[in-house]
Amino acid sequence: MTKDMLKLADDFIRENKQKINPQYRLRYHLMGEYGWINDPNGFIYFNGSYHLFYQHYPYEAIWGPMHWGHAVSRDLIRWEYMPIALAPDKEYDADGCFSGSAIEKDGMLYVAYTGHVYRSDKKDDYLQTQCIAYSSDGINFTKHKNNPIITTQQIPNEASKKDFRDPKILKKGNNYYMVIGSNDGDGNGQILIYKSNDLINWEYINILAKSDGSMGTGWECPDLFSIENKDILIVSPQYMKSQGNNYKNLHSTIYMIGNLDEIKGKFDFKDYYPIDYGFDFYAPQTTLDNKGRRIIVAWMDMWESDMPTQNLGHNWSGAMTLPREVILKDNKLYFKPVEEIKKYRNNKFSIENIELQEEITIDAQGDSYELEIVIEVQQSESFGIKLRASEKEETILEYNTKDKLFKFNRDKSGIGPKGERVTEVELIDNKLKLQIFVDKSSVEVFINDGEKVMTGRIYPADESRLIKLYSKGMCRIVKLNKWDII
Ligand code: FRU
Repeated sequence: MTKDMLKLADDFIRENKQKINPQYRLRYHLMGEYGWINDPNGFIYFNGSYHLFYQHYPYEAIWGPMHWGHAVSRDLIRWEYMPIALAPDKEYDADGCFSGSAIEKDGMLYVAYTGHVYRSDKKDDYLQTQCIAYSSDGINFTKHKNNPIITTQQIPNEASKKDFRDPKILKKGNNYYMVIGSNDGDGNGQILIYKSNDLINWEYINILAKSDGSMGTGWECPDLFSIENKDILIVSPQYMKSQGNNYKNLHSTIYMIGNLDEIKGKFDFKDYYPIDYGFDFYAPQTTLDNKGRRIIVAWMDMWESDMPTQNLGHNWSGAMTLPREVILKDNKLYFKPVEEIKKYRNNKFSIENIELQEEITIDAQGDSYELEIVIEVQQSESFGIKLRASEKEETILEYNTKDKLFKFNRDKSGIGPKGERVTEVELIDNKLKLQIFVDKSSVEVFINDGEKVMTGRIYPADESRLIKLYSKGMCRIVKLNKWDII
């Protein structure tokens, strides 16, 4: 039974992948080989390689019974597809192997995931339980005979009996802890924490953390880790209401820096912050690699947002962000693209020290590149960059010096979703520093060394490849470097 559903999916992908329309396929970001993908799952450095699994419906570019797709990389940039790792082929996961995480124990790779089962034909009548699968080669997985290893009976009274998903396992001392997304049944997101010493038998400890009423109706995809002596909790709150310029997407992602008391099962925190200030960033997951780096990857899309590759019959949908290193600085998190990307820089183009007070088109263009720019404000009221530009299209990044707002506008980006996201940015020595990654249908902007990041999908025409700079009043381009990323 198990083999059959995995084989069916792998055979289907092999026989159909030439039907993919490559127009918007990314060049240096991970996508599925065919069909739909959403959340990153089971992100881990295991036996000398990075493994990234993902929520996957291989048969069509729409969400369906979830499988776990699987890709492996040595450098977090070039990924090789592996056979499908998990298929929904057991009674306890018949309607989907939902999101989860990976951990190594005694040289074996374990993944924890949520078994999703509908109880009737109503879409909101389901049960979710936690399951384990293990592998010695990191490729072929066996579902544990005790599955589900956490059942709905182990859900406390103060929690929803159905939304119980996305287990992330961590190890502290000799114990394993599992944090699971939940809500209180009354419209507030929360995280439950469980404990085990063998990954198979789990005991409920507590509600680890909970929304104060402003942080979404349900919390999905928790992650819990520490950097230096701080504990960090990441969650993806559903339907979080916007606050000023923040949390403008249907669902959000936030981080909290605090203290974990694993004995009591409590995470104390005061503040929370967005992880990304753009449009398309959800369900991130982190891992610690062999170099001691904490690396984060997210699904670079948003639920219920327009995904043109679905409607145009391109036979694929969904991509991952660039893997980013998570850095703790001044009690905030900074996010930097992993340095491995530098190996893929080609065809360097540079400008240095020019004064700008109108619109110019630079002598370099493209659809997959990195741009590094330092701009000194001088007398400028506002200045910006137009990417993927042509006579008809442009994606605008603009800084307004009076109100200190940085904008990412995709109203004229092409087909697909529109809109603007705005965030406050303080200049450093009167300068703004940007590192921008453009890849066929994506833009990621790292502002002031990763203090803030804005991520969004765009779908311009192939010929929209110009790069323009403009300013109202004079500013100085201290430097601009552009590399094709190939
Ligand atoms: C988050 C999520 C998870 C769930 C998965 C299903 O995007 O809703 O909570 O496990 O997607 O595909």
